[in-house]
Amino acid sequence: MSRIFINYRRQDSEGYVGRVYDHLLQHFQRDDVFMDVDTIQPGADFVQVLEDAVKACDVFIAVIGPQWLTIRNQAGERRLDQWNDFVRIEIATALAQDKLVIPVLVGEADMPPPQELPEDLAPLSRRNAFELSHRRFSYDMERLVEVIKREIPAHPSFKPRADDETYQRKEEDIRQLRLELVDATDSPLFQFRDDNRLFPVLGEGNADANIMFIGEAPGKNEAEIGRPFCGPSGDVLDEMLASIDLAREGVFLTNLVLDRPPEKRNPTPEEIAYYTPFVDRLIDIIQPAVIVTLGSFAMGYVLRKLDLPEKRGKISQLHGKLIKAELDYGEIHVVPLYHPAVVLYNPSKKDVLLRDFQKLKLFV
Ligand code: URA
Repeated sequence: MSRIFINYRRQDSEGYVGRVYDHLLQHFQRDDVFMDVDTIQPGADFVQVLEDAVKACDVFIAVIGPQWLTIRNQAGERRLDQWNDFVRIEIATALAQDKLVIPVLVGEADMPPPQELPEDLAPLSRRNAFELSHRRFSYDMERLVEVIKREIPAHPSFKPRADDETYQRKEEDIRQLRLELVDATDSPLFQFRDDNRLFPVLGEGNADANIMFIGEAPGKNEAEIGRPFCGPSGDVLDEMLASIDLAREGVFLTNLVLDRPPEKRNPTPEEIAYYTPFVDRLIDIIQPAVIVTLGSFAMGYVLRKLDLPEKRGKISQLHGKLIKAELDYGEIHVVPLYHPAVVLYNPSKKDVLLRDFQKLKLFV
């Protein structure tokens, strides 16, 4: 599945873009073709929102009409020269990210020469342009679709769905891992589990999930029934998932530490060291394209495991960012988020969490 981003200027090419969009929908899913970045929440960093939307696509179509280069704002300044011009930010991001950028010329527009472009857009003029003529529109569009399909067979953020056999194998591997966890008598938390008749919590969800959430550790509610996120934090998480129409069953939920630590305390380094090999094996089995860490412990572990430049960053700086990384099985995104429990003791964080969850829409 490829994700296609259509970048255009309304006043310049809206009519053409509508036709391009309709044509693409004959070949691709509606959710895979982006035309406009959804409403940007008040207070959000709009440059970051646009950059994130572009980062999540594979093919970037820059529609260039006859006035694309010259349109001016009310003050008479060329729109393309403005630092906050959406069209410019999106194209510059796509070029910087080395996306497949296809300039699509409509309305008999010419490809702008580099000297007439702002510096960050100059490389656009070296991308081979594709001309959509009015008379041969359908024919030209078919050729464009062919190019897209040939260039981008699959989006790394959307892995192809596992076949039945693979899915069953994954479920079986998870079942085995669960049994090993039950037998983990040498764990630093085993005694506490046993004394209090608690259950370990390996996690649950889709064994082939595209998105995997890693929380901190099971709380009392979770350890009493052996399921993740079923207490007050789980209620917050459910609300967040619902806000982006993501069903619990579609994702996989786990934690960094898989037994309940006493007294609601933070996990110790020893506990993290003990349980993370289980978490690593879960990642290897499920092979998610997106790992969402909830809270600073899970974030720190995942960023260090992947040896990412952000590994020393704070959650206050990194929450809501899409961080590209490489695992043995391919490219992934890590998305650090605040832990849902923050909303319970600091309700003002709810908006931040809701806003950050919007980022995950790109992967749903
Ligand atoms: N419940 C969980 O399962 N994990 C947490 O991190 C918190 C509550």
